[in-house]
Amino acid sequence: MTTVAIVYHSGYGRTAAQAEAVLRGLQSAPDVAAQLIRVEDIEAHWEALDAADAIVFGSPTYMGSVSGPFKSFMDASSRRWLQQAWRDKIAAGFTNSGSLSGDKLNTLIQLAIFAAQHGMVWVGQAELPAGRADDAINRIGSMLGAAAQSDHGSPAPSEGDLATAERFGARVARAAQRWKRGAP
Ligand SMILES: Cc1cc2nc3c(=O)[nH]c(=O)nc-3n(C[C@H](O)[C@H](O)[C@H](O)COP(=O)(O)O)c2cc1C
Repeated sequence: MTTVAIVYHSGYGRTAAQAEAVLRGLQSAPDVAAQLIRVEDIEAHWEALDAADAIVFGSPTYMGSVSGPFKSFMDASSRRWLQQAWRDKIAAGFTNSGSLSGDKLNTLIQLAIFAAQHGMVWVGQAELPAGRADDAINRIGSMLGAAAQSDHGSPAPSEGDLATAERFGARVARAAQRWKRGAP
């Protein structure tokens, strides 16, 4: 069994909808056990992260970067960094924001650097952009990680962004399985 944890923050529920889509993708792979962990609940879940084969990080983009609660989680993980507890695990990341760009790339870069700090192995997004319609896969054209855009007042990102997140989860599951199989 390959285990994957999704650690995420969502102030207003839209990144949570994206996280649930990533979870569906992870669970679509056979022999994968995946779980969602809210950063607010992290104190009860550090051991689950230590035990996971892969960790997916998710944050809304606030002021062009990860949200404050997600950054607090990043800083709190420094104890794990000291122990290199997550070294050689698979890592991936996703973000959601109000604007089409909204400087989401900066958030994904932050997440990828965070994973690198922990010695993790980053998996990007591999879905080619299929147009700009609301139901198009990767309409935002984000390759470093999964990106979503949510209109103000809408409870979730677009249909296409959720489908993109789902495919992203399935890709991370396959990568984690391959990586685990090949591990010495
Ligand atoms: C404090 C704050 C800062 C924000 N900054 C950005 C931003 O830099 N770029 C952007 O596109 N949207 C920004 N937004 C909009 C949010 O990214 C958007 O509402 C998103 O869907 C919120 O996700 P959530 O429901 O998971 O919290 C911001 C919202 C808040 C509350």
